[in-house]
Amino acid sequence: MMKKKMNPILPDEYRMIDDFELKNRIIEKKEQYSSRLVILGHHYQRDSVIELADLTGDSLELCQKAARQRKADFIVFCGVQFMAESADILSEENQIVQIPDPLAGCPLADFANIEGVEYAWQKITDICKDQKIIPITYINSDAELKAFCGRHEGITCTSSNAAKVVKWALERFDKIFFFPDQHLGRNTASAMGISSKQILLWNEDNLSDEEIDGAKVILWNGYCHVHTAFTPEHVQKTRSQFPDVKIIVHPESSKEVVDASDASGSTGQIIQYVENAPAGSTIAIGTETNLVNRLNQMYPDKKIIPLVRSFCPNMFKINLNNLCWTLDNLGTLNVVEVSDAIKHDAKIALNRMLAL
Ligand code: 13P
Ligand code: SF4
Repeated sequence: MMKKKMNPILPDEYRMIDDFELKNRIIEKKEQYSSRLVILGHHYQRDSVIELADLTGDSLELCQKAARQRKADFIVFCGVQFMAESADILSEENQIVQIPDPLAGCPLADFANIEGVEYAWQKITDICKDQKIIPITYINSDAELKAFCGRHEGITCTSSNAAKVVKWALERFDKIFFFPDQHLGRNTASAMGISSKQILLWNEDNLSDEEIDGAKVILWNGYCHVHTAFTPEHVQKTRSQFPDVKIIVHPESSKEVVDASDASGSTGQIIQYVENAPAGSTIAIGTETNLVNRLNQMYPDKKIIPLVRSFCPNMFKINLNNLCWTLDNLGTLNVVEVSDAIKHDAKIALNRMLAL
């Protein structure tokens, strides 16, 4: 049995290697392991990593792709922790999921922990005794919260299927408790016609029992600093600079920004929007810089600009150096292991979403 170790500190020998050699060494490993190794890359990864990934996608696509990798013994996830955890939850027992830097977390996911969510759930369900309430966790969350949803008839969602999940939930339940991203929750509920009066931000001290009882959707108070950097002023300024511009933003942006834009969508949906736009279009995008820059390079016949530059430092923690280091230590280094009990319950919530 190989010894597994969690280590965020890249050894010096891997810092010294230049990108050309790193790339060659990574390609050699890919050839050596062939279908036994799959490298997944989220759209926010730097170009050099995306170039070497076997499969790329948004959170939902990567979840689906990870679940289909039955031949692979090793899944190396170039993304952030919650994504690698989801891959581990959906993988077979004999498959090993690794992340090149275990410190690549997601500050949005960290807004909610199991103790806080259980406390809020207890209060809400005590107050709304005659209502059926469903917990929905955005996939950007700790595995324990997915397990919580699995145990309470709940479900996960991503930014590309949130509308579908919320619609499904409202057909079966009276009320939604949505965590941890308030903006995705609010944008999705509003787009479905739920009035702002019926959308409540969870704040245990300042809410009356009547308010909690009357709400259709209760939102956790979390947000992504990368996407809340966009403001309605950025939208106005871009429109005055480029009168023909189309603006698309990620739904982790505030409702004011989404309302002022032409469209909103997951990273996969943003890529599709750019692809479908006619040549000569000017498109301003409100999402992470690495993806916006890549789209700009991929579509020279369109003018692709950032709404404003906004960067996810956690996604950027993955690089060719730690990817090469991981591939040299397949099966042992920075293995992502969700405990069996959490895996079991979290899988229920994830599979409920994947079945929709
Ligand atoms: P997507 O599901 O749109 O790829 O979003 C993931 C994410 O972390 C956005 O900040
Ligand atoms: Fe998390 Fe925001 Fe980075 Fe996405 S962009 S991984 S939500 S911090």
